[in-house]
Amino acid sequence: MKVFFFATLLAVVGSSYAIQCFECNSARDSACSDPFSAESPALSEAFVVACAPNATYKAFCRKTKMSLFLNGEVRIQRDCGYMRRENYTCYQQRSEDHFFDVCQCDTDNCNTATSFQAPIVAAFVSTIAAVFFTRA
Ligand SMILES: *[C@@H]1O[C@H](CO)[C@@H](O)[C@H](O)[C@H]1NC(C)=O
Ligand SMILES: *[C@@H]1O[C@H](CO)[C@@H](O)[C@H](O)[C@H]1NC(C)=O
Repeated sequence: MKVFFFATLLAVVGSSYAIQCFECNSARDSACSDPFSAESPALSEAFVVACAPNATYKAFCRKTKMSLFLNGEVRIQRDCGYMRRENYTCYQQRSEDHFFDVCQCDTDNCNTATSFQAPIVAAFVSTIAAVFFTRA
């Protein structure tokens, strides 16, 4: 039974299933900016892509908020990511002339929100579960 469960899980996770994500850049199309109307059929039509499979990396959805100091511009980029920053849902990349606030997520069209809530909820639930089960 357990073997079957893990085999199924592996089949689902490792299959040729291609995640789909919003792909756009507010510098080219202001509809890509926040607040983002993820439910809008027009935006889905225009921006949703199936991420190209990559032999080395598993694709995920990514949202990058780029704060450019030179002209004070803020750009939002949504795309498929391949090289993941481990252990963080969101993180910041800083350099002399910009901040990049990057969020990564793993479900279809998830690169929408300003901050990603689901993993925090999941972490919270698993913490509660851990406390519950260690006490039982
Ligand atoms: C896989 O993704 C990495 C990182 O983006 C890229 O450097 C590499 O060329 C990709 N490989 C293929 C086969 O697309
Ligand atoms: C991510 O977390 C795991 C488990 O805590 C740890 O083993 C791993 O080294 C971490 N990876 C990075 C890149 O920090």
